[in-house]
Amino acid sequence: MILTLKGLPNPRQAEFFCSTARHTAYGGARGGGKSWAMRRKMVLLALSYPEINILILRRTLPELRENHVIPLLKELKDVAKYNATERVFRFPNGSRIKLGYCDGANDIYQYQGQEYDVIGMEEATHFTEEQMQFLTTCNRTTRMDFSPRMYYTCNPGNIGHEWVKRLFIDRQFEHGESPDDYTFIPARVWDNDVLLKADPDYVKQLEKLPEELRRAHLDGDWDVHAGQYFREFSRQKHVVAPFDIPSWWKKFRSIDWGYNDPCAVLWHAVDSDGRVFTYRELYVREMRADVVAKKIVELSGNENISYTVSSPDMWQKRGAILKSEGGFEGECIAEMFMHGGVALTPADNSRVAGWQRVRSFLADAPDGKPYWQCFDVCSNLIRTLPALIYDRNNREDCADGNDHAPESLRYALMSRPMKSIMPVYKKKVYDPLATDEKYTNRFMEF
Ligand SMILES: Nc1ncnc2c1ncn2[C@@H]1O[C@H](COP(=O)(O)OP(=O)(O)OP(=O)(O)O)[C@@H](O)[C@H]1O
Ligand SMILES: [Mg+2]
Repeated sequence: MILTLKGLPNPRQAEFFCSTARHTAYGGARGGGKSWAMRRKMVLLALSYPEINILILRRTLPELRENHVIPLLKELKDVAKYNATERVFRFPNGSRIKLGYCDGANDIYQYQGQEYDVIGMEEATHFTEEQMQFLTTCNRTTRMDFSPRMYYTCNPGNIGHEWVKRLFIDRQFEHGESPDDYTFIPARVWDNDVLLKADPDYVKQLEKLPEELRRAHLDGDWDVHAGQYFREFSRQKHVVAPFDIPSWWKKFRSIDWGYNDPCAVLWHAVDSDGRVFTYRELYVREMRADVVAKKIVELSGNENISYTVSSPDMWQKRGAILKSEGGFEGECIAEMFMHGGVALTPADNSRVAGWQRVRSFLADAPDGKPYWQCFDVCSNLIRTLPALIYDRNNREDCADGNDHAPESLRYALMSRPMKSIMPVYKKKVYDPLATDEKYTNRFMEF
């Protein structure tokens, strides 16, 4: 057997090789040697563990062919047999590496019922969170000598930017996710000596990119990314520490309803300049409408809420009368909310105009501060708003994805919140010298 694997791993690649975490991501800047490391790691696993079953995925077939099939055919010549129809490399020790892609939303289901000891997701940010979650259900093993794991390579940007950032950069975990399972290895082009020597101009090309792209592709900065819809969003400018909101500020709420998808409820307050502050969020999944309504009432306390705008689809009649355990009945979700003490107004759902409205609120007012700011407790809104990316087919719109909290914000800002006007409390004093005209009212106001 002649193995034609050339090159030694750089220190970052070596870290990637050594990681046995349940989920290991290797990512950041372009050209660090991530794809090389992914291919090499999978081959090393196939050689080390007889009969191991490995899946390497890329989003599209042409990318898969260029990045993995062609290089692996060269590297594994005389080592593993390739079946082009199945796209599988079979090793003499019974191990197999399957190369797959899932371009369309449903392509992922071809892996249903299959079992892979290791899954490698190349350019993981090109996959949606749902696709990743589905793939984790195929990542299991019956062997005693190996723990199942997933390896990811990624650059900032694209449809999966937000879940990769949440798990590996921000390390904000949700129910059922254990922090110890997630390891991140940063990639920089400067790690890759081979590339720097062979193509010294590559770094210069990255340096010439426009500011945001340069920060993402050269510095591996996860706060900006290619295709970002709201580039104007800045944590420094738009996120503020909570403060006591004057009682006279107009307050209102917005809801993007979801049951399987998250339900995003936001509370907003408007100051006397018309600046809107989003001061609270409720972000829940799989919670019944009447329970959400109850929670909203609880969280609102004795605040004076002027109105609540919400997704127009909450008025869709569901056919049957819905009855909650609490006894509320309704033909639609909005009615259930109303019974729960939260009266709703259908929001203006124009997407493109609505996103423009959000954009104009992100802009600076004459005092140098943006027209919209958000309390730092609204973590889901702060995470998902900058993660929105442009829709590939409609450059005016953003792509569907984890946009529930931003949609709720859009509904809020489309409701044209009016400035709050500080009430003037007039004092009345007795004026004994009042003239005849004033006789009937001897109390003067000032
Ligand atoms: N340790 C190594 N030894 C030899 N060649 C390497 C090594 N690491 C990377 N390379 C080569 O460097 C080049 C860039 O590496 P690679 O394509 O893996 O980078 P990448 O991080 O995946 O880039 P991108 O972000 O564009 O996807 C490739 O030609 C690859 O074969
Ligand atoms: Mg790559």
